[in-house]
Amino acid sequence: MREGSLFFSGKILVALLCALVLCGNSISIEENAITMGLGRDAMAPDISPGGQPRPFIPSLAPSPLIPFINSSVPALSGLCMLNFSAVENLMSVTATDCWASFAPYLANVVCCPQFDAILFILMGQSSKNSGMLALNSTHSRHCLSDVEKILVSRGANENLPNICSVHSANLTGASCPVIDVIEFESSVDTSRLLSACEKIDPVRECCDQVCGNAILDAARKISLTGSSLDDCKGIVMRWLASKLDPSSANVVLRGLSNCNLNKVCPLEFPNITKVAADCEGAISNQSACCKAMESYTSRLQGQCLLTNLQALNCAASLGMKLQRANVSKNLYNLCHVNLKDFSIQVFSQASGCLLPSLPSDATFDKSSGISFICDLNDNIAAPWPSNSFEPVSSCNKTNKIPALPTTTSAQCGIHIESIESIMFLLLFVCLMFLQIPP
Ligand SMILES: *[C@@H]1O[C@H](CO)[C@@H](O)[C@H](O)[C@H]1NC(C)=O
Ligand SMILES: *[C@@H]1O[C@H](CO)[C@@H](O)[C@H](O)[C@H]1NC(C)=O
Ligand SMILES: *[C@@H]1O[C@H](CO)[C@@H](O)[C@H](O)[C@H]1NC(C)=O
Ligand SMILES: *[C@@H]1O[C@H](CO)[C@@H](O)[C@H](O)[C@H]1NC(C)=O
Ligand SMILES: *[C@@H]1O[C@H](CO)[C@@H](O)[C@H](O)[C@H]1NC(C)=O
Ligand SMILES: *[C@@H]1O[C@H](CO)[C@@H](O)[C@H](O)[C@H]1NC(C)=O
Ligand SMILES: *[C@@H]1O[C@H](CO)[C@@H](O)[C@H](O)[C@H]1NC(C)=O
Ligand SMILES: *[C@@H]1O[C@H](CO)[C@@H](O)[C@H](O)[C@H]1NC(C)=O
Repeated sequence: MREGSLFFSGKILVALLCALVLCGNSISIEENAITMGLGRDAMAPDISPGGQPRPFIPSLAPSPLIPFINSSVPALSGLCMLNFSAVENLMSVTATDCWASFAPYLANVVCCPQFDAILFILMGQSSKNSGMLALNSTHSRHCLSDVEKILVSRGANENLPNICSVHSANLTGASCPVIDVIEFESSVDTSRLLSACEKIDPVRECCDQVCGNAILDAARKISLTGSSLDDCKGIVMRWLASKLDPSSANVVLRGLSNCNLNKVCPLEFPNITKVAADCEGAISNQSACCKAMESYTSRLQGQCLLTNLQALNCAASLGMKLQRANVSKNLYNLCHVNLKDFSIQVFSQASGCLLPSLPSDATFDKSSGISFICDLNDNIAAPWPSNSFEPVSSCNKTNKIPALPTTTSAQCGIHIESIESIMFLLLFVCLMFLQIPP
C-alpha cells in the first residue's frame, strides 16, 4: 500500500475520532473487565456457528497490559537450546503482532504468519550450533513453552498455539527423514535454493513462485515415500532461515505465507438458507431480501480483519454459494454490498477496514498503543462472480480486479489511554492519512 503520508493534523483528528468512537460505542467496565464495542452494528451480539452469542471484542482484564510497563524476564525451562538472543527484535515484533485480546482478529493475516516465521527462524538459527534442523519430542515441548512464555511476557496472547494451531510437534522433524544439516546439504542443490530464495519480490513471487518452487523441489529431494511433503518443506524453510540473517529470513517467510493467505477467504460462512429463501429467483420482495442479506453480512463482520484480496475472494465465495442456492440476481448490486462489508467495521458501519495485501505488522508505541495500517475502503462494490468462478488472482493480467482504494488509508488500533491509572480505557482508533498521488 502506498502511503504518500501527509500526516493529517494529528492531535485534533485523534480527539475528533475519539469523540466519534466514544459516541458510537459503548464501553462498559465491570470488575476489572472491559468490554469494548465498535459501532452500533458491531455491538449486536454476533452469533457464532455454535449458536452462542459472543461479544465483538472479548472482555479484557487489565493484566495483559502490564508487560508493557514491566517487561520482566520470564522463568524459562532451562531445557530448551534455542538461541533466543539471535531473534531478540523479532520476538518483540511477534508479540506485538499477536497482542493480547487482539490476536484473534489479526490471527490469519498478521499474527500467525509471524508466529510461524519466528519458529522457523529460531530453529534455523539454532541449527548453526546443533547441526540439526529439528528438535526431539521432549525438547520441542520445552521449547514451544519457552517461546510462549517469552512472547506472553511481551504482551502476546496467552493462547497462541491454539489460535495459530501450532503444536510442539511442529518443532520436530515430524515425518521428514532428513533433519541433519550435513545430510540436508548433501541431498539438495543448496546454491539454487539459496539464490531463488535469498530475496523475494512479494508480488511477483505469488505469481512466478520462484522461491516456492525451489522449496518444493528441495522438499521432494529429502522426502521418502510415506513422508509428508509439508513436513519436509518445513525443514527446507528452517535451513533457509539458517543461511539468511533473521530479519531477511523474516521478510522472505512472511512473503511466502502471504501468497497463500491472499488466495483464500478465511471467513466461516453461516447457513445461507434465510437469504436464499428471501432472494431466490425473481425476488418477490426486494426489501425483505436486502434485509436478510444485510443481517447476513453483519454476521460476517465480527470474525476477523481481511486483506483487500481476501475480501474479493470472500465476495466470490459467498456469491457462488448463493447462486448454487438458486439466487440469480446480483445481490451485491441490488443490496449495495461493498468489499469493506466483509471485514471488521471500524467507527460505524460506514467504515470497513481492509488490511493491505502485502505483509504488514502491528506496531506498539507507548503513547498510542497498538496500531496497524488499513485501507479505509470507500465504496468499492463487491463483484458478483460469474458462473465460471476462479479464485481471484492478481497474476492474470486479463483479470479485472477492481481498483483498490488509494485515496484514504488509516492507521487503526487499540489505543491505550491513561496507562498509569488503574482503569485502562481501550479505544479502537483510526488516524487518517491523506494520500498524495505519486
Ligand atoms: C516488575 O516486576 C518485578 C518482578 O515481578 C517486580 O519486582 C517489580 O516491582 C515490577 N516493577 C514495577 C514497576 O511494577
Ligand atoms: C546466539 O546468537 C547470537 C546472535 O546471533 C550469537 O552472538 C551467539 O553466539 C549465539 N549463542 C550461541 C550459544 O550460539
Ligand atoms: C532429546 O535430545 C537431547 C539432546 O539434544 C537428549 O539429551 C535427550 O535425551 C533427547 N530426548 C529423547 C527423548 O530422545
Ligand atoms: C504444524 O503441524 C500441523 C500438523 O502436522 C500442520 O498442519 C501445520 O501446518 C503445522 N504448522 C506449521 C506452522 O508448520
Ligand atoms: C441451514 O438451516 C436449515 C434450516 O434453518 C437447515 O435445514 C439446513 O440443513 C442448514 N444447512 C446447513 C448446511 O447447516
Ligand atoms: C416485504 O418485506 C417487508 C419486511 O422485510 C414487509 O414489511 C413488507 O410488507 C413486505 N412487502 C410485501 C409486498 O410483501
Ligand atoms: C432451485 O430451483 C429448482 C427449480 O425451481 C428446484 O428444483 C431446486 O430444488 C432449487 N434448488 C435449491 C437448492 O433450492
Ligand atoms: C486469465 O483470466 C481470463 C479471464 O478471467 C481467462 O480467460 C484466462 O484463461 C486466464 N488466464 C490464465 C493463465 O489463467
